[in-house]
Amino acid sequence: MHFENKTVFITGASSGIGLACAERFAEAGARLILVARRADKLEHLAAELKAKYKAQSKVFPADVCDRIAIDKIFKSLTGPLSEIDVLINNAGLALGKDRIQEALLSDWEQMIDTNIKSLFYITHALLPSMLKRDRGHIINIGSIAGRQVYSGGAVYCATKQAVKAFSEALRLDVNGSALRVTCIEPGMVETEFSEVRFKGNAALGKQTYEGIEALRAEDIADTIFYCATRPAHVNIQDMLITPTAQASASVVYRKTKE
Ligand SMILES: NC(=O)c1ccc[n+]([C@@H]2O[C@H](COP(=O)([O-])OP(=O)(O)OC[C@H]3O[C@@H](n4cnc5c(N)ncnc54)[C@H](OP(=O)(O)O)[C@@H]3O)[C@@H](O)[C@H]2O)c1
Repeated sequence: MHFENKTVFITGASSGIGLACAERFAEAGARLILVARRADKLEHLAAELKAKYKAQSKVFPADVCDRIAIDKIFKSLTGPLSEIDVLINNAGLALGKDRIQEALLSDWEQMIDTNIKSLFYITHALLPSMLKRDRGHIINIGSIAGRQVYSGGAVYCATKQAVKAFSEALRLDVNGSALRVTCIEPGMVETEFSEVRFKGNAALGKQTYEGIEALRAEDIADTIFYCATRPAHVNIQDMLITPTAQASASVVYRKTKE
């Protein structure tokens, strides 16, 4: 039970990687703070984790882009829940796969607000208390798209490059403290991600993973858990994780149907 008496704050916990992290850390005995917009999913998850692991979770249905709502969450945390040991900045999305000339500005805005601004602001809000206690681990979910761009992904890739840059700068700014900063960069993970990208078109979403064995959310949660359970003097700065069939952001070997 590596995480007994430790508090883990997870954004985007209602699905995919965030949900798998909640399960992995609950299993290890952590207290959880779970944030996402869909209240029903969060409540169902919290009940399930309580039944399975006796996990204590506090659920906050909120949009991470709503700074006032996020501020209220931090202000409402008291006692051990206010002493966050691990922040998993995971909430994020891609919207559309259009070339720049055809893309919708509203899609860009939502990606920039969610993937960049909310991650920056949540980190900024939490950092003083981590520094004061000289304890904490910030784990940002970037992407292979933060290292290699692809056509139709300009702004999503740019947001993930921003996550990478911010993680690197944060490491410089907290250097000298005991804080750790990790940037996890997954390749293709089969979650709700593609269905969200194609705005609810499940068939298109499914097509993304056709002919390959994509990563599962649990694979990424395992990696995150590994990073969070290294000895205090070990900081894993970056991790790029892809399915074996994925050589780069755009080169993927797909088995064709016989
Ligand atoms: N899947 C991949 O292939 C892949 C690859 C590389 C990186 N990533 C990154 O991994 C992270 C998690 O994605 P996933 O694959 O697990 O996708 P997912 O299944 O769609 O999960 C995304 C999570 O983010 C939450 N979220 C989105 N916008 C939000 C907002 N404005 N406020 C609060 N929560 C919000 C969603 O919850 P609600 O809808 O309930 O709000 C959901 O819980 C993202 O940052 C994504 O960019 C994914």
